[in-house]
Amino acid sequence: MDFFDLMNISHRYMEILNPSTSEKIIQLGKLLKLKKGSRVIDFGCGCAESLALWAEEFGITGIGIDISGDFCDRARDKLVKRGLSGQIELVCSPAADYVFEEGAFDAATCIGATFVFGGFQQTIQAMKRAVHQNGRLGIGETHWLSSQVPPEYAQKQTTTHTEPELAQFIRNEGFELEYIIRSSRDDWDRYISDNWYGLLRWLEENPNHPDREQVFKHFRTDQDDYLQFQSQYMGWAMYCLSS
Ligand SMILES: C[S@@+](CC[C@H](N)C(=O)[O-])C[C@H]1O[C@@H](n2cnc3c(N)ncnc32)[C@H](O)[C@@H]1O
Repeated sequence: MDFFDLMNISHRYMEILNPSTSEKIIQLGKLLKLKKGSRVIDFGCGCAESLALWAEEFGITGIGIDISGDFCDRARDKLVKRGLSGQIELVCSPAADYVFEEGAFDAATCIGATFVFGGFQQTIQAMKRAVHQNGRLGIGETHWLSSQVPPEYAQKQTTTHTEPELAQFIRNEGFELEYIIRSSRDDWDRYISDNWYGLLRWLEENPNHPDREQVFKHFRTDQDDYLQFQSQYMGWAMYCLSS
């Protein structure tokens, strides 16, 4: 089983695949100044819940790109069920390979998926090519809550930065950090517990699966990391960037 198989199992009971809420995602849409007809591109869109919420709330049109065939299938079914398939296009592809129309979007977003471009700053560089001159960016990202992160955990999370570092990356790319929508401890607990729930249900349903041991080990490691380190040292937020 690879990373994506484990992710599909752990995320199968979630629509928002990050430690946030529908309300906060709609708030991000307001800060991005989304309105009827706004064009949005969402990199690493998962099950396209953010795009669906913005289509319902603001009347946007948009494109979501995600590498996972399972998440794209779930997203397509959802868009049909919610009557949004005419507004939102889905592309199942690595985000970095997708050739988008430059300067054609009012907003670009990447929520919990900056690894698709190799990091936070590289993601801003890709996203700024997608938006027009007054376009806005929305990025969901982890950050360190402390400068005293135990090295055994910091070494596992080499792409996480402090918020002052994130602000510097934003300024280096010619943007200003206009708003922070911070996730609460409850948001983290919901997201992480939903992961555990997905893994435990799969283990229950697959008592004889050859990869059972690997899935169980992943569950336990993830749980220990969260309880020992992540809940104390790692924060998560969505940042709204304006030019
Ligand atoms: C933490 S989830 C966030 C999903 C979504 N933005 C959300 O908030 O619900 C990260 C997403 O990145 C996708 N992903 C991973 N590598 C990718 C790549 N190279 N290109 C595009 N998507 C990728 C995963 O399939 C997953 O849907």
